[in-house]
Amino acid sequence: MTERLKNKIALITGGTTGIGLATAKRFAAEGAQVIVTGHNPDTLEAAHQQLNGSVKVVESDAADERSS
Ligand SMILES: NC(=O)c1ccc[n+]([C@@H]2O[C@H](COP(=O)([O-])OP(=O)(O)OC[C@H]3O[C@@H](n4cnc5c(N)ncnc54)[C@H](OP(=O)(O)O)[C@@H]3O)[C@@H](O)[C@H]2O)c1
Repeated sequence: MTERLKNKIALITGGTTGIGLATAKRFAAEGAQVIVTGHNPDTLEAAHQQLNGSVKVVESDAADERSS
């Protein structure tokens, strides 16, 4: 892998499964600082386990304006 995303920050909304999760892994492998969001406690925990600290996992419901 290259470090072409070094010094970049990526926020992936809906990144705890599927395309978002795969993108998060790839961006992190390319050197980016990555944050993913999701709202299901089970998939949030699964993503947290899978990403093992390489990506920050944040609970945030995209359908709720008050959610941070
Ligand atoms: N897979 C394909 O081949 C394909 C092709 C074309 C288009 N798409 C579209 O691309 C998008 C992603 O597909 P995917 O296969 O990666 O889907 P997916 O595995 O279901 O992933 C959806 C992601 O969005 C999150 N999410 C859903 N509702 C949310 C909410 N209210 N707040 C925060 N996060 C929320 C989910 O987190 P939680 O688990 O926490 O809900 C999950 O991380 C979808 O819109 C799909 O229709 C997919």
